[in-house]
Amino acid sequence: MDICVTGASSGLGRALCVRLIRTGHRVWGVARREEELQSLARELGDRFRACALDVTDAAALRRLRERMEREGGVPGFFVLCAGVQRDDMSDGGFDAAAAEENVRVNLQGVMGCIQEFLPVFLERRSGTFVCIGSTAALRPSRRSAGYAASKAALHMLLRSLRLRYAGRGVRFATVIAGPLATPMWEGRRSWLVPAPEAAARRVERFLSSRRTVLYYPFASTLLLRLTRGIPDAFFSAAASAFLQ
Ligand SMILES: NC(=O)c1ccc[n+]([C@@H]2O[C@H](COP(=O)([O-])OP(=O)(O)OC[C@H]3O[C@@H](n4cnc5c(N)ncnc54)[C@H](OP(=O)(O)O)[C@@H]3O)[C@@H](O)[C@H]2O)c1
Repeated sequence: MDICVTGASSGLGRALCVRLIRTGHRVWGVARREEELQSLARELGDRFRACALDVTDAAALRRLRERMEREGGVPGFFVLCAGVQRDDMSDGGFDAAAAEENVRVNLQGVMGCIQEFLPVFLERRSGTFVCIGSTAALRPSRRSAGYAASKAALHMLLRSLRLRYAGRGVRFATVIAGPLATPMWEGRRSWLVPAPEAAARRVERFLSSRRTVLYYPFASTLLLRLTRGIPDAFFSAAASAFLQ
């Protein structure tokens, strides 16, 4: 399969590129840091194509589509992993610029990719977008209001796209991810926080399923869903004791 992975320079996106190349796929890896992508390209060989760009830059996404069309065609699968988590709350107040950056990358970056590549999928009557959501959409964050808001909005974005384009051959899927041991995760590493390589294996299987929502990892996301009736302040204190 031909698959485009955004956020390819680090964490889950990087582990997914490695996994997909090792299992025989061709991958376009997208992120901003050119050196990280080039070092991944050297490791993965010529089935991996690196593309350094910012997912919030519509003109760069347009150039990416044109390059894909020249070099074998637009892939049938996009895994939209690129994300940031900037702290935007402190004892001193709320930092709207930091919050906005979370929204720009995590939500508008996904919207930009879908705007650019959906017409190709609709014309083909086939294609898959898998977006990496978060359990931060289900419970508020003490660090980053913008991050939680961006992920909550992402889930509703995908539900709306699914509703509007049902029956047109395009799959809009979401991975609702709990904590993963990547550079983004600042908490404690424990059995509840799997390595990105384990997450990549699960996302790879999900790519070719027909399901639209995957909760991963099973244990932390199940705990979260079972405890939805518990007040936020109590839940947050208990989660910090386990995970921070
Ligand atoms: N780690 C967790 O606990 C956790 C939990 C739930 C959900 N998630 C989600 O999982 C996804 C992957 O995160 P991760 O944990 O693997 O984090 P990570 O290691 O920090 O990786 C984030 C990736 O996004 C890329 N990126 C950031 N801004 C970008 C932009 N404007 N344009 C293009 N690429 C950009 C980064 O590359 P460059 O800096 O090179 O651009 C990097 O490759 C994110 O959507 C995150 O919200 C993570």
